[in-house]
Amino acid sequence: MYLSRDIPKITTHVLQEMKLKGEKIAMLTAYDYSMAKILDESGIDVILVGDSASNVMAGHKTTLPITLNEMIYHASSVMRAVKRSLVVVDMPFGTYQGNSKEALQSAIRIMKESGANAVKLEGGAEIVESVERILSAGIPILGHLGLTPQSINKFGTYVVRAREEREAEKLRSDAQLLQEAGCFGIVLEKIPAALAAEVTASLRIPTIGIGAGSGVDGQVLVLHDMLGINQQFSPRFLRRYHNLYEEIRGAVGSYINDVKTLDFPNEREQY
Ligand code: KIV
Repeated sequence: MYLSRDIPKITTHVLQEMKLKGEKIAMLTAYDYSMAKILDESGIDVILVGDSASNVMAGHKTTLPITLNEMIYHASSVMRAVKRSLVVVDMPFGTYQGNSKEALQSAIRIMKESGANAVKLEGGAEIVESVERILSAGIPILGHLGLTPQSINKFGTYVVRAREEREAEKLRSDAQLLQEAGCFGIVLEKIPAALAAEVTASLRIPTIGIGAGSGVDGQVLVLHDMLGINQQFSPRFLRRYHNLYEEIRGAVGSYINDVKTLDFPNEREQY
């Protein structure tokens, strides 16, 4: 049914083909071996080892505290599970904004120590020198524009970005810049659907949206949000495919009850 279904390994070139053929790209986050294995075996095209691990795995309020070593730990765990999906790793805050030499060193560490397929960086013109230097080492880059959570202290809120024409114009120009630099795709986060569709139509490389409507080349969600593990986060763009929070509570509640009532373990569950 899907063109990409029979492809044994998703590469950046496959994503390009998918854009050309009009097949949407499905991307989800994963941060550990077990979840990554399920995602890969389910046929997800791209796994993002997002710095959202800072929120959903470590419990921080923002994505800023997560370190390069922690991202490499998550990425290595994911890589041990994945056979088919393309794995992209977020470069954490502070590892690429300073200077391009440091950016390249950080990207090389991610690629060498985790075995991932690509990295993702947030921003446009401000970070283009780092983008070019990383690309020159043969490391594929996924850009990220619109709401860029690593800049939360500059924005002040997580509201929709680029509603104003000046910001929309910068986003259009940043998207072109990232494409010309050689990025294989761009994540567009929380921007008006019409702008996302316009930018998508203007680019040769695929766009992957989150809160950016349907006129993009693919979609990404945070796994814990779409599975309903995380109950506090309910933005309009989020579709919940499950209520794992309730499921897990139910299962844990049954286990507690079984232990306390001596129902578990029974005769067949012991040696
Ligand atoms: O870190 C992350 O999960 C992300 C996605 C929201 C795109 O960057």
